[in-house]
Amino acid sequence: MSSGARKLLINLLVIIVSLVLVATVSRGCGVKIPEEGTAQALLFRERCTECHDLIAPQSMTPKMWETIIGRLDGNSKRGHPALPTEVREPLLDYIMRNAYRRR
Ligand code: HEC
Repeated sequence: MSSGARKLLINLLVIIVSLVLVATVSRGCGVKIPEEGTAQALLFRERCTECHDLIAPQSMTPKMWETIIGRLDGNSKRGHPALPTEVREPLLDYIMRNAYRRR
């Protein structure tokens, strides 16, 4: 193989790997959430990515979450599903505990 062709091949590989990485991150796998590895963080990761990408608890203030949680509780005008009762408490606990707060 000529060195020009090899360079082209390497460049192509780099591009493909980058695209895969970007795709993974934008799917929400790269979203950092607090208390990673704990049962509640896992529950959050599992339950809140069934229908859309992960929205990190620290990305919104407690006040904003209160509005959203009203929707999560089934008062949604736009159709946000209610949380199943068995996961409601731990999920809301986790979200509110880790919501964005100015320090
Ligand atoms: C069964 C599907 C489903 C699950 C599970 C789900 N969502 Fe949603 N989510 C939606 C839909 C549909 C919308 C857009 C409609 C809406 O805004 O009400 C949405 C929108 C949102 C929004 C954008 C703000 C809003 O309400 O418009 C946030 C924040 C959100 N979800 C957070 C969560 C969190 C946190 C969880 C886990 C506790 C969760 N979602 C689980 C379907 C789901």
